[in-house]
Amino acid sequence: MKNPLHVYGEGWPAGPGWGPVRRILAFSSIWRSERHRHLVFERFGAVPRSTTAVYRKRLFPLPMAKAERKRRRPRRVAPPGSRAAQPGPRGALNRRKERHLDACLDGAVDLGRDSFAAWALRYRALPELALADVSTEVEFAGRKVAAPFIISCMTGGVGSRFERINRNLALGAEALRIPLGLGSMRVLLAHPEARGSFQVREWAPTVPLIANLGLVSFNHGLTIADVARVIELARPDVLGLHLNALQEAVQDGGDTDFRGCIGKLEEILAACPLPVYVKECGGGIAPELVELLAALGVHYIDVSGADGTSWAAVEASLSADPSFGELFRDFGLPTAWLLEHLPGTLAGKAQIVASGGIRNGIQAAKALALGARHVALARPFLVAAEQSAEAVVALGRRLMRELRTAMFLVGVDKVSGLGREHLIDRRGAW
Ligand SMILES: Cc1cc2nc3c(=O)[nH]c(=O)nc-3n(C[C@H](O)[C@H](O)[C@H](O)COP(=O)(O)O)c2cc1C
Repeated sequence: MKNPLHVYGEGWPAGPGWGPVRRILAFSSIWRSERHRHLVFERFGAVPRSTTAVYRKRLFPLPMAKAERKRRRPRRVAPPGSRAAQPGPRGALNRRKERHLDACLDGAVDLGRDSFAAWALRYRALPELALADVSTEVEFAGRKVAAPFIISCMTGGVGSRFERINRNLALGAEALRIPLGLGSMRVLLAHPEARGSFQVREWAPTVPLIANLGLVSFNHGLTIADVARVIELARPDVLGLHLNALQEAVQDGGDTDFRGCIGKLEEILAACPLPVYVKECGGGIAPELVELLAALGVHYIDVSGADGTSWAAVEASLSADPSFGELFRDFGLPTAWLLEHLPGTLAGKAQIVASGGIRNGIQAAKALALGARHVALARPFLVAAEQSAEAVVALGRRLMRELRTAMFLVGVDKVSGLGREHLIDRRGAW
């Protein structure tokens, strides 16, 4: 290699030991600008004779040649149909899930709507109760849990980020004694290396776990046999199935063939040994579908209304044409409206879960008074789990305290005691 001194002429310090210094000086990363480089060279008494490109080429012909060779090397393309050509978790699907996390951690995708503001809790100045006697305990999937809160289904995939978030959620759920939902496990079926992120039983041995698959995925490759594989791996108490037509329709290349999903659900219900939990993802399940799901024998129906995380907004943030998804940002049915219009009686053992934008214990109390048996939250727990398991516990404890206080203030000492008589319809009431 040519000595840099020969390029830049006299004036440069020479002698043993100066070689590395000259090299460091020559690397452009230390110059704030081309002007800065010129000034320093002048100070040394050497005149830079070339632009950055030429000087790099002269000083560092070997690395440049290597970089050039690399640039010109033809890219390897996986043969169509091969496994490498599939959207692997290290590739498209995993990256997508990571981008979902990033988008959800950014509050911009949260609608921040409080449809429960239409209701006030009927305050009792003399509750005739001791706050200490108010219990938030309920039962979920045959297990006693500390409160009607559920950490809603979120994530899972290949890599330490997913494992860390799910471990924090699981440790938090166990400490809080509340149920935990897992994120969609479809990724696992094609890529078993994602299993670590879903095997949270060791962190949450005693609380109810909800596995999760998309119902529409059974129109796009999943089979009933996959349900058994998911159950074997995650050892859940409940099988969750999500409905997400809004998300898929807004997503570039989403799974949009929803024909025959009711039939698929019937098959799953007949084959699944666990209670089934059907949920939306922030678009809402309208009353007539709630009624149908209950009649089919679904055990838990999570209405997941359009008050909180907007999956249209999440997908918009990932799309080449964000304005399309943004148009559908608050499409869907508000959570409190869904609860207000629940069918009077539900067939079978169906229990309603309220979710979508629930952010505090007062909203939870209103949801329970409107007919929900449980309340699920997703994004707030994600934000906490991104920090630590302790943050998840702190959030859960806070929610429980808020709910217990609201119950005390309306004079109710157990969750099942909450009812519509504890609500005032604010619209027109004052
Ligand atoms: C990061 C993230 C990932 C999610 N992934 C799933 C999922 O895999 N399956 C699912 O059923 N719901 C998923 N959801 C939707 C939530 O379970 C929930 O229905 C929705 O976010 C509304 O609740 P929120 O307003 O409290 O966030 C996800 C939510 C978040 C924030």
